Amino acid sequence: MDLLKNKILSEGVVLSDNVLKVDKFLNHQIDPELMVEIGKEFYNRFKDSEITKILTLESSGIAPAVMTALNFNVQAIFARKRKSLTFTDDLLSAQVFSYTKQETNMISVSNQFIQPGDNILIIDDFLANGEAAGALINIVEQAGANVSGVGIVIEKSFQSGASILKDKNYRVESLARISSLADHKVTFAGDTK
Ligand code: G4P
Ligand code: NA
Ligand code: NA
Repeated sequence: MDLLKNKILSEGVVLSDNVLKVDKFLNHQIDPELMVEIGKEFYNRFKDSEITKILTLESSGIAPAVMTALNFNVQAIFARKRKSLTFTDDLLSAQVFSYTKQETNMISVSNQFIQPGDNILIIDDFLANGEAAGALINIVEQAGANVSGVGIVIEKSFQSGASILKDKNYRVESLARISSLADHKVTFAGDTK
């Protein structure tokens, strides 16, 4: 997706060989026109899959998930990272291990929002080691629903997540695939160095 790649090149900041900062349009400030186009692009890639719901993880997955849900004319759900006063239903939960923080956190979704027979499209902002996507898949499968695919805004192809998911036969569609962040430079998969 050229619009996204150009945005990454013009506004992304390579913080290290592993981390790309995109808080000008995705992780803090959000670019609505880019989100609209991201929603259309995920729709085009998954439109043959009869998606019934979109599932993401708070917070940065919410904007692309909502724009995607709008195109499919379905509801968007976000898994929560913490409990709240009103979040007391029966919960589907899964653990997410963070390599950077070396800690495990629980994410949860109320069981009223995912039903057996649902075809769920999982959306997230980043795919690194696949921990978050794996936990979302776990929640969908606990509910007896089907994972139709995983839509990622920015895939770091040099980390393990994409290959782990593809090895398990999940369909992964990433709108930008980064093969390297070495030398303070973004290299997209398929680009010559
Ligand atoms: P980790 O293995 O490196 O610890 O990554 P993990 O998958 O646990 O993700 C930790 C958080 O960092 C996630 O956001 C994830 O989306 C984000 N993330 C992973 N790699 C990158 C990167 O290169 N750049 C940026 N900007 N973010 C990255 P989160 O904590 O769930 O926060 P939120 O933004 O969704 O609220
Ligand atoms: Na994030
Ligand atoms: Na995220």
